[in-house]
Amino acid sequence: MAEQEVLYNGSSKTVFRGEGDNITIRFKDYIAAFYGIKGARIENKARMNCSISSLVLGYLNDNGIRTHFVAQTSDTEQQCRHVTHIPIEVIVRNVVAGSMAKRLGLEEGIVPENTIFDLCLRDNELGDPLINDHHAVALGLVSYEELAEMYDVTSKVNSLLKELYAKVGVTLVDFKIEFGRAADGSLVLADELTPDTCRLWDVATGERLDKDRFRRDLGRVRETYEDVAERLANLLNK
Ligand code: TMP
Repeated sequence: MAEQEVLYNGSSKTVFRGEGDNITIRFKDYIAAFYGIKGARIENKARMNCSISSLVLGYLNDNGIRTHFVAQTSDTEQQCRHVTHIPIEVIVRNVVAGSMAKRLGLEEGIVPENTIFDLCLRDNELGDPLINDHHAVALGLVSYEELAEMYDVTSKVNSLLKELYAKVGVTLVDFKIEFGRAADGSLVLADELTPDTCRLWDVATGERLDKDRFRRDLGRVRETYEDVAERLANLLNK
């Protein structure tokens, strides 16, 4: 069989060209933080993140969100639609944490009355800088109309994910998503949704159930990802 063409090779996943209009995403047993300064092999992480992202994206598809996800095809692989990636990270914050707490000198855990949206330019060399709508348009990345749609979809995703995670005893603190354009130009959510890209806090204990366990050396990284995967599978794999 011919070797699959690699479209992207990152620290936690590889993307291959697939059949026709599709790509294959293969997750890896690796975790990286701070632009690769810190990294480690985490046994079973590929299986857990593939399962979590497939369950969450499948749930979003079922609830009217257009995502790139087609199917989980093995323990560590997903089939997704190929889209042209827009290099913008849309971040949603329901609870103050992470870079927002640091940048503004706030305590982590404050719950603002509004939902906060940040945009970051996806550019490793520049350190994914925070940008605003006008920068995104000036850079030619999106139109104002597309931005309005991206905020609308992101807001719906936030409501759906908050509800989903509440059912498994987890507060969705914040998360990041990215979009792409399908062949007809329409916007599609094209990203993973895993504990690598979300902050998840246990409602009962306040324990962190996400990549902060690795960033902050809190231990039990593997067990935590397995816990999130199990909670979601028990809820969604009836
Ligand atoms: P931050 O507090 O570091 O800005 O991150 C906010 C959320 O977005 C957190 O859940 C992690 C996620 N995120 C990514 O997945 N990738 C990124 O490059 C950034 C900046 C944030």
